[in-house]
Amino acid sequence: MVKAVVIGAAGGIGQPLSLLLKQSTLISELALYDVVNAPGVAADISHINTPSTVQGYLPADGGLEKALKGADIVVVPAGVPRKPGMTRDDLFNINASIVRDTAIGIATHAPKAFVLIISNPVNSTVPIVAEVFKKKGVYDPKRLFGVTTLDVVRASTFVSEANGASEKSLEYSIPIVGGHSGETIVPLISASQPSVSFDQSKIEALVKRIQFGGDEVVKAKDGAGSATLSMAFAGARFAISVLEAAAGKARTEYSYVDVKALGAGEWSSVVGDLTFFSVPVKLGKDGVESVGAGIKANEYEQGLLKVAVDQLNGNISKGVAFVADTA
Ligand code: NAD
Ligand code: LMR
Repeated sequence: MVKAVVIGAAGGIGQPLSLLLKQSTLISELALYDVVNAPGVAADISHINTPSTVQGYLPADGGLEKALKGADIVVVPAGVPRKPGMTRDDLFNINASIVRDTAIGIATHAPKAFVLIISNPVNSTVPIVAEVFKKKGVYDPKRLFGVTTLDVVRASTFVSEANGASEKSLEYSIPIVGGHSGETIVPLISASQPSVSFDQSKIEALVKRIQFGGDEVVKAKDGAGSATLSMAFAGARFAISVLEAAAGKARTEYSYVDVKALGAGEWSSVVGDLTFFSVPVKLGKDGVESVGAGIKANEYEQGLLKVAVDQLNGNISKGVAFVADTA
């Protein structure tokens, strides 16, 4: 019996993500929470003839507590998205308090759940959740994940496209480490599986496209938000991997996790004193089992990593300071 909760379930990501989770036979109970329209989304999804039951909750009458009670996994796409001209960091002022309050709810009502944070800026919102959990005495770094899977999905698509139509059916796996915004997203194309061969200018163009893929969608949506459908696909893939691993199947995914607490292993020399960094994580019954190893960055990529680490320092400190000042 697995209870999955989506916080922000009526939103652009929340709705298709809830739909994709309803398709999973690993989930027996789906709780959909939002400040608006969650009962409507739940009623709609509940007519789908897969085994899980579906219930929608609003804040009134202890809705957050009811949604979270007994949760095994909580996925959080609550918060505002970007408009053209904005950075993810511009969302901090609104989303930091939404994520902090959600984290307080999870710490109180579902302290043992796997927690997957989608709300931006991920580089700062995940440290916010960690700080709230520490204050509440329930922090388990093995169970807290920043969702960076969309960058992995995009990289696979863009590299396949660049390799030409005949290769499109191949699923390229490109290590993406660092964070989830602009230059903090570091694609290690030299470690692609299967390997690829491009000239340096093509590699640099691909790196830029992967780092700023979110901007392509924000621009195309022209004020109507950011990526929702591809994000729902990526979020569902990550959530299902976590649940499959909890059910005994070995799974590896990339995620923005507390490498300092988990042990950064081979990444130690890259991350230095940073707490959070996206790395390959081996997932097991209790969440992160270990940080994956065996990926080498070439000289060009080592330069990209330095830039990412510098920026992440500020992003993480901002999240930590927010909780110290307000929670
Ligand atoms: P949206 O505005 O369509 O939906 C957000 C939902 O959150 C809304 O339904 C809103 O009512 C709800 N909400 C607001 N405050 C809430 C609260 N306190 N509790 C519960 N629900 C609350 O936005 P969206 O397009 O779904 O994007 C959501 C977030 O995900 C944004 O911050 C966006 O930047 C981020 N995002 C992250 C990634 C990633 O790769 N990690 C990708 C795409 C978008
Ligand atoms: C993305 O990568 O698509 C998301 O982080 C949303 C955004 O603001 O670009």
